[in-house]
Amino acid sequence: MLHRRSNAGKSLTALVFLGAITPSLSLISSGIDAAAATAPPAGHSQWPAYGKVPPTTSPEVQAWLKLVDWTKVPKIGVRHTKDPGPPACPPIAAPASDCWWTCSGCADPDDVVDCPGKKVWGLTFDDGPEPGTTEKLLELMHEKNVTATFFVTGMKSTKAPALLKQTIDRGHHLASHTWSHQGLTTLTNEQIVAELMWTEKFVFDHTGYKLKYFRPPYGDIDNRVRAIARQLGFKTVIWSNEWDTQDWQLPYKTITPSQIVNIFKKGISSIPARNKGVITLEHDGAPQMVAMARTLLDLGMKSGLKPMDIASCLSDKVGYNAVPAKPATNDSGEHSADGAAADKGVFQCSEYIRND
Ligand SMILES: *[C@@H]1O[C@H](CO)[C@@H](O)[C@H](O)[C@H]1NC(C)=O
Ligand SMILES: *[C@@H]1O[C@H](CO)[C@@H](O)[C@H](O)[C@H]1NC(C)=O
Ligand SMILES: [Zn+2]
Repeated sequence: MLHRRSNAGKSLTALVFLGAITPSLSLISSGIDAAAATAPPAGHSQWPAYGKVPPTTSPEVQAWLKLVDWTKVPKIGVRHTKDPGPPACPPIAAPASDCWWTCSGCADPDDVVDCPGKKVWGLTFDDGPEPGTTEKLLELMHEKNVTATFFVTGMKSTKAPALLKQTIDRGHHLASHTWSHQGLTTLTNEQIVAELMWTEKFVFDHTGYKLKYFRPPYGDIDNRVRAIARQLGFKTVIWSNEWDTQDWQLPYKTITPSQIVNIFKKGISSIPARNKGVITLEHDGAPQMVAMARTLLDLGMKSGLKPMDIASCLSDKVGYNAVPAKPATNDSGEHSADGAAADKGVFQCSEYIRND
């Protein structure tokens, strides 16, 4: 989903509704039995509900709150929002010391906004996993022989947990996009911890990988959110100015494919003058987005951009805060590749791209 700065107030309705509409769309398109898919694994009472900020009173969240030194978290107020979703930007700018990206365009030196290498293209897909489109994106990446970072939400992961491992097994990079996709500046400190840590736990329990990189929904981050995320071990990734593809609007028909191509071509025309690479923002959520991803990959690669996941673009060989122990060579299934990839011989356990 896009951020408020480049949206300039238009399509706000669609923006706010996306969270509410996507679940039902995904259920229709996938035919997934939500009740069965969300059954918690053994040892868990309950995963947080879909589409809601996880409660902060649970024993899990209470324990996670102790991981943060609260004296290091600036006392910046919780931002207003009319609906669940991005903040309503105030008419009077917040103090520069808040470094509020969504409403003031401020990035911290620690935020990853661009890939450092010239012509390096950080390829990112947000808001999945989405049964029916994630698989198609994985096929597309395989066809083009590139890897991407998938910023997944915890709530979507509960509907398709197997897609998490499948994404990693096919050489891609998973990162966090929080549990329920709220504007984090509109949440309390405790809620921010719950959003980040439940997502980390869900992905860890289903893959053995502990997420390191995180993208705030709507790019909504200020120094309060940063101080919490940083202490929980997360590195913030936003996206390059002018490289928000706006593909999330495709299902709403508030933008045409050719308008998106034009946005992208404008970006490409700025490449020769850039002394660094780019990070694009695309989404995993609808067939139109997969088609657009193909168009943009072709365009970008033709103009010399080198697509890769965020860990690779940062030369981070691990890309996670923890990875599973190396699978034994005679391991019989726990780490086996998904069928399609195995048939093509593109993946074996020993080929985990960042397992060491
Ligand atoms: C695929 O990409 C990798 C890494 O960039 C490269 O080493 C390899 O040669 C590529 N394979 C093909 C078939 O293009
Ligand atoms: C391979 O499998 C055998 C029998 O299941 C087991 O004893 C052995 O420890 C395994 N080797 C490794 C390296 O895990
Ligand atoms: Zn998003």
